[in-house]
Amino acid sequence: MPKTHTRYVCQQCGRISAAYMGKCPQCGSFNSMVEEIVPDGSSGAKAAPRGLSGRSTPRRLGEVSGEAEDRIPVPMEEFARVLGGGIVPGSIVLVGDDPGIGKSTLMLQMTLLMADRLRVLYVSGEESERQIKMRASRILPQGEKKPAFPENLFLVTETNLDTIYEHIAEIKPDLLVIDSIQTVYMPELESAAGSVSQVRESASRLRELAKNGGPAVFVIGHVTKEGTIAGPRVLEHIVDTVLYLEGDRFQAYRLLRSVKNRFGATAEVGVFEMLEHGLAEVSNPSEAFLAERMVNAAGSAIAVTMEGTRPLLVEIQGLTSAAQFGNARRTPNGVDYNRLLMIAAVLTRRVRLNLAEADIFVNVVGGLKIDEPAADLAIAAAIASSMRDAPVRADTVLIGEIGLAGELRMPSQMPVRLREAAKLGFKTAIVPKRLRKGEPWPGDIEVIEARAVQQALELAFGIQRELPQGRKVA
Ligand code: TYD
Ligand code: MG
Repeated sequence: MPKTHTRYVCQQCGRISAAYMGKCPQCGSFNSMVEEIVPDGSSGAKAAPRGLSGRSTPRRLGEVSGEAEDRIPVPMEEFARVLGGGIVPGSIVLVGDDPGIGKSTLMLQMTLLMADRLRVLYVSGEESERQIKMRASRILPQGEKKPAFPENLFLVTETNLDTIYEHIAEIKPDLLVIDSIQTVYMPELESAAGSVSQVRESASRLRELAKNGGPAVFVIGHVTKEGTIAGPRVLEHIVDTVLYLEGDRFQAYRLLRSVKNRFGATAEVGVFEMLEHGLAEVSNPSEAFLAERMVNAAGSAIAVTMEGTRPLLVEIQGLTSAAQFGNARRTPNGVDYNRLLMIAAVLTRRVRLNLAEADIFVNVVGGLKIDEPAADLAIAAAIASSMRDAPVRADTVLIGEIGLAGELRMPSQMPVRLREAAKLGFKTAIVPKRLRKGEPWPGDIEVIEARAVQQALELAFGIQRELPQGRKVA
């Protein structure tokens, strides 16, 4: 029998320790250390990654072939964009988020499309083959008496990684989907499926498989309560690309966001809508997000955020109401809590809005999460609009980051944002004052510059509507 030793692994950050500790010294979580028994000689985490294909040879930079990677085209434009143009052969992609958001649906839909040209193996440790088939019948175009399932899509319910490898050797897929990494285990490790060691080791092995001429691999990963994939961040380092499918389970929109991509831009976003028959691509998301907007209602403002390379217009709603028992609450939905506190404080101190005794609710319509400071001004306008019970001008977008002194700061990529707003029929944009003269603003929208929040809000409520066309406020 091989000798074994015991070690303790933090399920949050993957820190390994010889003795049990109540608090992880690396990430500070409590009671996160779990005992694991490992064979001697296996350190769990490999010290250094092995060469990607056998022995490595250093080459002059000029001799390295520099052609763009051949990508396998994906016939879903929103998905392809997030990947950076298609699937890179030999890459490993992690698709993560909360259970029930639609990861399995997205992956199955993608594989159904890809199986036209490629051999695909879909390994599920979560659902039976029958369940997957039922989902596939739901997704496939209806109307025909019997949906035509692709020849080259193979399903298997399996969790033992050794057995999965046997299936791979037999079927020789070009594309492999593992649903989910938390259900897969390597029998030689003593710890349970879903533990940090299992997740990390299984992912490393799948990565080696991909890098050594194997299939492109997609692994699905669930996010823990704390918001990290599978507990350890380590998983994010193993894979080439990390995609999060985000959205509100009670709303239809889903955003596929790349938070890491070795083969493309990060923060790129694909927008989908969950329908009866699977996920539909939303190719004009700004229009979709603004579709249910009530024009001329108080407590609404339009922000223009950049999601990757794409500008997105979103409606921000604000509501203020008298707080109970002098205990004012701030409730953001889709906006960072601390950002909301800061904006509320600036509105109180610099704009003299009496928010101290008001509950504030902020909501980003469509279930989108915004973390861009460029949306500050629209958030402030939505709150102020509700407080004053006065609507923001309906044809106006607000773009700008708010500083603590109540000053406005210029976000990046303004021309792209302004053009998108103009394309959707907005007539006016209220933006921060430029410190230096630069390129002229795009011509198809009236741009009004404001130095401070106070001034921007007055403009937004149309108080200075008599300003002559095109004149910039000094
Ligand atoms: P699923 O892909 O199982 O989520 P995950 O793998 O992330 O846990 O998606 C589950 C949800 O999607 C479920 O609430 C039902 C819904 N759904 C639809 O609305 N339409 C569909 O066509 C499908 C397949 C699922
Ligand atoms: Mg699933």
